[in-house]
Amino acid sequence: MSKVSPSILAANFMNLQQELDKIKRADYLHIDVMDGHFVPNITFGFPLIEALNKVETLPLDVHLMISDPSKYVDRFMDLGASIIAVHIEAEIHLHRLLERIKSREVKAFVALNPHTPVNSLESILPFLDGVLVMTVNPGFTGQKFIPLAAEKIRQLDTIRQKKGFEFEIAVDGGVNLNTAPTVVEYGADILVMGAAIFRSDFPEKVIEEVKGLKR
Ligand code: DX5
Ligand code: ZN
Repeated sequence: MSKVSPSILAANFMNLQQELDKIKRADYLHIDVMDGHFVPNITFGFPLIEALNKVETLPLDVHLMISDPSKYVDRFMDLGASIIAVHIEAEIHLHRLLERIKSREVKAFVALNPHTPVNSLESILPFLDGVLVMTVNPGFTGQKFIPLAAEKIRQLDTIRQKKGFEFEIAVDGGVNLNTAPTVVEYGADILVMGAAIFRSDFPEKVIEEVKGLKR
């Protein structure tokens, strides 16, 4: 069974409660925090997460596309994040930051931009709870899936099996009903999906179908 994490960035913000009602059967709620510095877009931050945490029963999967994430992770954890993904390209002291996240019993994920190779994780793999493989350039919902970036899922799965690691593999960007079977086949455990869920006429069906995918 695959896990689904709908990305709220693709939702209709004028009807957020209605949008949340569509994704009750999902496994997480993916929240894309962007600062206009690490990525060329600005989205939302603490106030929205605080509000969501009050009403939302799904665990919050917070994807930080911000420079200097160590400055802010504690506040995201205080507000109820269950997963925090930080970009390897944005953090100098990654090991220290992961240890800090894990000390709060929050899952520490490391995200990779499409150009960042799997071997850049070599020394940090034993310390992380998951890897978030970006299959688009981070910044926007509704972009086209980059097949070459998805190959990293396969590489990570091979390393995981060889070395007996238990980290999860999440994939984010352009995942839809066409690309989902491939990434699951490659070894992805968590599928982040924005447009494919919130811009579908049948979001519940999309979630069910993706949850049912097996390798
Ligand atoms: C991209 C974000 C994604 C995005 C996914 O920068 O990290 O989470 O919202 O949206 P889709 O699934 O539409 O590509
Ligand atoms: Zn994301």
